[in-house]
Amino acid sequence: MTKNKTQPKKDIKKDVDGLSGIETTGHDWDGLKELNNPLPRWWLWVWFVTIIWSIAYFVLYPAWPTIANATKGTLGYTQYKELKESQDEIEMRQAAYLERFEKASFEDVMNDPELYAFASAGGRTAFMDNCATCHGTGATGFEGYPNLQDDAWLWGGSIDDIYTTLKHGIRWDEDYDTRVSMMPAFGKDGILTRDEIKSVVHYVMSLSDKSIHADVAGETIFMENCAACHADDGKGLTDMGAPDLSDAIWLYGGDEHKLYETVYYARAGVMPAWQHRLDENTLRQISVYVHQLGGGE
Ligand code: HEC
Ligand code: HEC
Repeated sequence: MTKNKTQPKKDIKKDVDGLSGIETTGHDWDGLKELNNPLPRWWLWVWFVTIIWSIAYFVLYPAWPTIANATKGTLGYTQYKELKESQDEIEMRQAAYLERFEKASFEDVMNDPELYAFASAGGRTAFMDNCATCHGTGATGFEGYPNLQDDAWLWGGSIDDIYTTLKHGIRWDEDYDTRVSMMPAFGKDGILTRDEIKSVVHYVMSLSDKSIHADVAGETIFMENCAACHADDGKGLTDMGAPDLSDAIWLYGGDEHKLYETVYYARAGVMPAWQHRLDENTLRQISVYVHQLGGGE
């Protein structure tokens, strides 16, 4: 670099580039000279506009950090305020529905498409937050956690049944009105011998699989020990929370091994009561949602 910084300015002669005839800036890098072209006009204008824009922005909006906070801007804009406003609007719209929903019976809700849609949507959200961990996001359940999509119900699939199940839970000690029904642990508690259990399991399998022919012993054991809860035909009793054993829908599995385990130890699934965890409106909205999933009994 041959540029000489100590050279006084006034001594620099205006240097004109021989090839283009344009004045140079005087900068010379190993023979390469910089032409002193003016900035393009459009570029300058854009630059001025951005400067004006930024000054206006500094004045109108919060912009400059201060020690404790930031300049407020003359418009008084904050994102908190914007969020609050949109939340207020949502709440206002919801409030109109909520008020109607609160006063409506389940029957009214079913007959009002608008309220029904409102309740199902709210119920769905609450379901994802509170129930999906155990029943799955699609409500199809897992082993021991019932599928709520089918129309096989332990405790009944009417909307009132579902509401009661949710409100008080199932075998939930802390709720006085919880749903209880205890299938005895036939093997563990020595009510039936291993052979008798095998025999009744065989009978249970024959209820849903016509290719299995159970012997009379199994049927007799069933009538004496099981029919009180699962009904004579094995189709279950929702009053007892006892599932239909003839529909080939299994909560704990329908192969011989799983069935043996169920009858030997019993299962006694537990669901929490929701009445103190969710408010009444949410409970009712979830009831509508779950009822709709099961096809509506
Ligand atoms: C901690 C796990 C758990 C959570 C969370 C849970 N459940 Fe359950 N739920 C169960 C179990 C286990 C059963 C089956 C109990 C039994 O064996 O009788 C059940 C049963 C039910 C039943 C009865 C089904 C029938 O066939 O009668 C309904 C309805 C239900 N749950 C809905 C819900 C809803 C709605 C929520 C969310 C508010 C929820 N559950 C949250 C574990 C849970
Ligand atoms: C006091 C009522 C009662 C009696 C008696 C009873 N059960 Fe149950 N049974 C239930 C209940 C309630 C369930 C629901 C599952 C649970 O406990 O979580 C159930 C569940 C079952 C299941 C599980 C079904 C599935 O979908 O996985 C089988 C199998 C079964 N019972 C068979 C029997 C047999 C066989 C007998 C007789 C030896 C019998 N039960 C007697 C109440 C009863």
